[in-house]
Amino acid sequence: MHIASVGINKLCFCLALAFSGLLLLLPCLSPPAQPLVLPKPKAQLRPAPNGTHRSLSHIPADVPLRRKGKGTPSTGHTRHEPLDIEDVFIAVKTTRKYHKSRLELLIQTWVSKAKRQTYIFTDGEDKDLQLRTGTNLINTNCSAAHTRQALCCKMSVEYDKFIESQKKWFCHVDDDNYVLLPSLLLLLSSYHHSQDVYLGRPSLDHPIEAAERVKSNGLVSVQFWFATGGAGFCISRGLALKMSPWASLGNFISTAEKIRLPDDCTIGYIIEALLEVKLTHTPLFHSHLENLRKLPLETVLEQVTLSYGGFENRRNVVSVVGRFSLSEDPTRFKTIHCLLYPDTDWCPKVKLEPGH
Ligand SMILES: *[C@@H]1O[C@H](CO)[C@@H](O)[C@H](O)[C@H]1NC(C)=O
Ligand SMILES: *[C@@H]1O[C@H](CO)[C@@H](O)[C@H](O)[C@H]1NC(C)=O
Repeated sequence: MHIASVGINKLCFCLALAFSGLLLLLPCLSPPAQPLVLPKPKAQLRPAPNGTHRSLSHIPADVPLRRKGKGTPSTGHTRHEPLDIEDVFIAVKTTRKYHKSRLELLIQTWVSKAKRQTYIFTDGEDKDLQLRTGTNLINTNCSAAHTRQALCCKMSVEYDKFIESQKKWFCHVDDDNYVLLPSLLLLLSSYHHSQDVYLGRPSLDHPIEAAERVKSNGLVSVQFWFATGGAGFCISRGLALKMSPWASLGNFISTAEKIRLPDDCTIGYIIEALLEVKLTHTPLFHSHLENLRKLPLETVLEQVTLSYGGFENRRNVVSVVGRFSLSEDPTRFKTIHCLLYPDTDWCPKVKLEPGH
């Protein structure tokens, strides 16, 4: 029993490592770049207790993409909601040692466009950074170790701060993600925050199987999908409130302990296994585990999150050129930012098209 549980834990924890290699080597295993909707669990229309609750697995994940004709047909049940960036709580998970090398770049780029809505969860004081940049830097007092417990500790604080914030959407990203705010708003506004919505990219092409401790007789196996934390994911307020018994005020840590899974797997466990709400698979979120060079150039600005690098692979970056050279902008985040916000004062001025 114990061995099985440890094995699963290890499997989950090592997904990143094992699959990064495979994803880079075998494109067929990586989520396909062309078809926009990943294989999904069977679409299941669950009963609507109050007429507000329905399955989201039919909702096409390719809403923000301009590609026409090939997407999953919409069932026409989507409730749209006009959304402002003020409605979104963006949590960035980092650690003290990356404040300079990773965080400063985010603060200079996308965070500067959503400063009040972005909360940076770290594990050490940095009054200088906070004063200089005016960001919401939250010292979680969690350990700086990259362990399951420390990561779950941070996620637990993120969850509580989100609930406290009263905002409509919770989005979690890592400190190596660029968030394309216009795409994020477009994606979220195709749902309603009172629906049960869990959006993200699965890190595997099949659900994970884990051993769940049950009171009566030891361990039972559970299967569920989870969104990989390294690519970022979003949860509606309606769903987040339902997660409360397993996620609020430190309960997240005990839930994670119960099934011995890392933070992102635990989120999937609570939502899919306990609340029986399906992950809405979307290919618009990207982690450093993917081959980012393969992202078609014309779709880069339509993605919701991007990343860079990865295991000893500094050159794994999106292939946008211009504005900055690879040595000036090794992550390509500045280049992306200047494409999205060309009026930014530090963006190189591009020649005006004739007629302007
Ligand atoms: C709707 O929800 C309320 C509380 O949230 C509950 O008391 C009520 O029984 C529900 N109605 C139906 C039809 O399930
Ligand atoms: C971390 O500890 C400090 C000092 O004790 C405290 O002020 C702060 O609220 C704590 N942070 C969290 C998120 O609990």
